[in-house]
Amino acid sequence: MEELVLVKNKIKEFVVECDDAKSLELLDKLATGKMLRSKLILKIAGESHESIKLCAIVEMIHAASLLHDDVIDEAHTRRGSPSVNALYDNKTSIMFGDILYSKAFTELTQMDKQIAYTVSSAVTKLSIGEMLDVDLTNTFNTSYDKYFDMIYKKTASLIEASAKAAALLCGKDEDKYALYGKNLGLAFQMVDDILDITQDSKTLGKPAMLDFVEGKVTIPYLLLHERVEDKSKLESLYKKQLTEEESIWIKEQMTNTKALEDSILQAKKIGNEAIDAVKDEENSEILTFIMKAMIEREF
Ligand code: IPE
Ligand code: IPE
Ligand code: MG
Ligand code: MG
Ligand code: MG
Repeated sequence: MEELVLVKNKIKEFVVECDDAKSLELLDKLATGKMLRSKLILKIAGESHESIKLCAIVEMIHAASLLHDDVIDEAHTRRGSPSVNALYDNKTSIMFGDILYSKAFTELTQMDKQIAYTVSSAVTKLSIGEMLDVDLTNTFNTSYDKYFDMIYKKTASLIEASAKAAALLCGKDEDKYALYGKNLGLAFQMVDDILDITQDSKTLGKPAMLDFVEGKVTIPYLLLHERVEDKSKLESLYKKQLTEEESIWIKEQMTNTKALEDSILQAKKIGNEAIDAVKDEENSEILTFIMKAMIEREF
């Protein structure tokens, strides 16, 4: 997509404006991600000066959240490269995250007020979501409500805001697009949680099988815990560095109990609810395509 190059250039431009050589050096260390949020904005709002700016702002916010997330999760790879916390240290990752966040907010002040409000308030939700995610690792969480509230905040809120802001930008029904984005975002994080188990680190470009070690009881683990015969074995592996054998045991149980299969089904169901919200829109076909590609992705 040609427009994605424009988004990358705009991000560079924004960081150049920060007038700091170290920040530019760090930006260079960030590999490009899937740019899902930009693709979504561009599909809804089309390409314009304002939509490219919105994409750059959202991608900077997303990158900042990942810079902080890799410190929080003690993850040493990101997008197939060493993460900034691994290349430098935690402090650098946090500080560069702050620079990207604040520059994004500065640029938001130059945009339409409702768009600025929509995107900036989503970042508060995202940050609260990250805090909830960590708080939920204190003990083995078995609550679906807590899991869904947390993933809504940490991940779906920014995708919801991206879709809503894009709709505002081009005068479409923002509530419909917000609902589409919210459900897309929920399904997106569920798929991320599934891929943590089904894929290897190389394919993911980030550590695999890390969630449970970090104490994250994601949707497949919630289902597994309900269904697995040897509950105490599963509980004994919680927050532990897994051996190859233990890792295989978990994956086998995930298959045998259909915990993985049903997690995928649940993600698909929520994905379909996303489509329902925009079924009467003239671009519903492409919005359906985005949802399906997102569910079927491999990383
Ligand atoms: C990773 O987001 C963090 C989550 C919200 C799951 P992405 O999967 O969109 O990351 P990149 O930008 O493609 O690397
Ligand atoms: C992070 O969720 C979501 C953010 C908002 C940063 P994860 O911790 O699951 O994301 P990955 O798997 O590291 O990309
Ligand atoms: Mg993480
Ligand atoms: Mg995390
Ligand atoms: Mg993850």
